[in-house]
Amino acid sequence: MPIHRRSFILSGLAMAAARTSLAAAGRVEIIPDDTLGVISPNIYGHFTENLGGCIYDGIWVGEDPNVPNVDGIRKALVETIRRIKPPVIRWPGGCFADSYNWRDGAGPRAQRPRRTNFWAASDYLAKGPDGPQKYDPNQFGTNEFVRFCRLAGAEPYLAANLRSGTPRDFDEWIEYCNSPAGTTTLADLRAAGGDRDPFNVRYWGVGNESWGCGGGFTGDEYAVEYRRFVEWVPRYATPVNFIASGPNSGDTAWTRTFLTKLTEKGPGALHNVFGLALHYYAGTAGNGSSTDFTTADWYTMMAKSVRMEDLIRTHWLIMGEVDKRRQLKLVVDEWGAWNKTADVAPNFLFGYFPSMRDALVSGLTLDIFNRHAGKIAMANAAQLINNIHSSFLATGGKFITTPIFSVFEMYAAHQGGTSVRTEISSPRLEAEQATGLYSLAGSCSLKNKQAVLTVTNANHAAAVEAEVSVRGARISGGRATALKAADIRAHNSFDNPHAVEPVTAPVSGGGQLVYTFAPASVTRLDLTLA
Ligand code: AHR
Repeated sequence: MPIHRRSFILSGLAMAAARTSLAAAGRVEIIPDDTLGVISPNIYGHFTENLGGCIYDGIWVGEDPNVPNVDGIRKALVETIRRIKPPVIRWPGGCFADSYNWRDGAGPRAQRPRRTNFWAASDYLAKGPDGPQKYDPNQFGTNEFVRFCRLAGAEPYLAANLRSGTPRDFDEWIEYCNSPAGTTTLADLRAAGGDRDPFNVRYWGVGNESWGCGGGFTGDEYAVEYRRFVEWVPRYATPVNFIASGPNSGDTAWTRTFLTKLTEKGPGALHNVFGLALHYYAGTAGNGSSTDFTTADWYTMMAKSVRMEDLIRTHWLIMGEVDKRRQLKLVVDEWGAWNKTADVAPNFLFGYFPSMRDALVSGLTLDIFNRHAGKIAMANAAQLINNIHSSFLATGGKFITTPIFSVFEMYAAHQGGTSVRTEISSPRLEAEQATGLYSLAGSCSLKNKQAVLTVTNANHAAAVEAEVSVRGARISGGRATALKAADIRAHNSFDNPHAVEPVTAPVSGGGQLVYTFAPASVTRLDLTLA
């Protein structure tokens, strides 16, 4: 029976294989001549917010002698984060951004004020003990964030306050960051905080979720505010790129009304938009736990995470109605699963232990971004540490990486590659599990004669044996790195920090390759083409 792209119907044999965990037939064909755009490294960005344990006890440990640190920044994080090659990190929010006065975190640390955190009134934190998660001591401000980015090898992306701040505050934050040493009072304040030279921050968010916690604006109202914020901001040596608050998931009206209003005086206004921020969380399933869920919950999450592809396509079409020259790109600056437990430490509002399910959500999503490389300028997983879709968990002297970290580490090889069309055929998942989903999904990028193919197998129980080939080329060899576990709920914990980790092995060439993708796995194949 022939296998058709995305229309493979389970044969009796494959059906039996799915039930008994035997390998089923699949096919992956890489088509090097059909290019989809260069994958901006910034697609592999991260997000950090003054929320729960992300900043305090996550990134920032202060001068606590019990936790090794680099000028107050957690040393274990600094030493590990470069493995995922973070190109860009967003801060300070999130919703927190639209309550934040950047001056509170500027200049000498000893003189900074304490403020009630935006999230302090949330049910969970309201019940918790007092601490920096509730009453922010502002010890981690702009200087500390930029230092952290430099230690991580990432560019800073600052999200400005549009709801409770003013355009003047925005101008002055840019001046604080980017004005040359010694030229202005704010440059001197920056130096008093320990950094004489400008930070040269290129990425600036103009509010966050301005349809919700960022002010409750309509698209029209926000467009007027946006113009007021970005017109005639002070310019220094570093060109600044503005990111507009975009839609909440499928809110197409926001995209259309914002862009229409923004350009009412002409399309020139689009020059002031680097990207339109799209936020989409796949959420959770079942009882909300990240580590205690059913097989049905597993498939619910797979189906919810691939919704990202429709959202990108839909908003992209609407953007094209106004942006005829296609200058504008999407910036998916918040994405991830969002489970509902908070079990890492007291006051870590959305801190939970990500499992293999979260690894699959990551792989599925990053492959979607790669396949739409021409439409996406940046994406930021929410959030880097101790919060929601975390790559790291830490409290006090404890520190671990999560399966999400492993996916980022594996997928980093795509950064800067050329995304190429890849036809993937595999058994359809059974209807009751996830309507419309197939076992395998993935993406491929090329750099010279090296192909990086990443593939998820969403089937929780059945492996898929697939022929992997490259149109017009031969595979002369390579290696496979697979993240898999016997249990879909497997996760790393402080007691068992290496429970889930990828394993690498060579694969033989000889033209094409037959590879067996394990159940519930994320795989990277590095292929040398001849
Ligand atoms: O990432 C957590 C929150 O989710 C952010 O603060 C907000 O932007 C979004 O709703």
